[in-house]
Amino acid sequence: VSTLQQITACNEIYSAITQARAEGKTVGLVPTMGALHEGHLSLVRASTESCDFTAVTIFVNPTQFAPSEDLQQYPSTLQQDITALAEHQVDLVFTPNKHDIYPAGFSTYIDPPEVALPLEGKQRPTHFRGVATVVLKLFHLLPADIAFFGQKDYQQSLVIQQMVRDLDVPIEIRVCPIVREADGLALSSRNVYLSSSERQQALSLSASLEQASQLVTAGERNADIIREKIRQMLLTGGVDEIEYISLADPETLGEVEQLSTPVMALIAARIGKTRLIDNRRIG
Ligand code: PAF
Repeated sequence: VSTLQQITACNEIYSAITQARAEGKTVGLVPTMGALHEGHLSLVRASTESCDFTAVTIFVNPTQFAPSEDLQQYPSTLQQDITALAEHQVDLVFTPNKHDIYPAGFSTYIDPPEVALPLEGKQRPTHFRGVATVVLKLFHLLPADIAFFGQKDYQQSLVIQQMVRDLDVPIEIRVCPIVREADGLALSSRNVYLSSSERQQALSLSASLEQASQLVTAGERNADIIREKIRQMLLTGGVDEIEYISLADPETLGEVEQLSTPVMALIAARIGKTRLIDNRRIG
């Protein structure tokens, strides 16, 4: 167990990071909204394995939630999170409060890149504006060498990579694989919302992606046929509403018709009141 320093003040965090860099340490940053699970901890491990100093941020960012979404219910397990971070040799945890990140009068937002428009961007039109704005603020407050994000939020990782390129932010972005339960369910802080029967239904997301992958291995190249198989499997599995099923170019997220190169399969669906997403590279 390392000594984990906790900072909440925005005016202290910058000097803590620049001091570590001045000591010659490479700094890894893992931005999170807390309610940490093995997926987050895999990002932490990726950071501690490749950087000398790891900082984790825990901030439930209000600007990425629409008024109808689950900001008020979003799970919070701060004491457990801090214990887990200390056990994972994290050096610093930044837990700012809302009014320091968004003081009265705050009114500047990032207009996210084009890759933010389809899929999540269609379903949640203000989401990526909030994500890009807070992530850029975190990159300024914690000027790390490398920032780690999960592939679970695949479109988010593309948005952040594009923003960093377009705005010349001097940070490297690393995207780490999805962590799944033994039965395939992608880890998510929102899984705690699921009842045990809903959790069974939720397995149809990963199962349908697995089936899509098998279809492609067996030679299927028609994207519409694969989308339809995914749709059938989600409905048979009992999801209440499908928001999107996408077979898209991994860089632009434009929908494909024929699979000549690898694609991303991305799904968003609702089970009861819970919205879940999953994705997988196919082909
Ligand atoms: O992926 C998340 O948990 C959030 O979107 C992030 C990147 C921490 C920004 O609030």
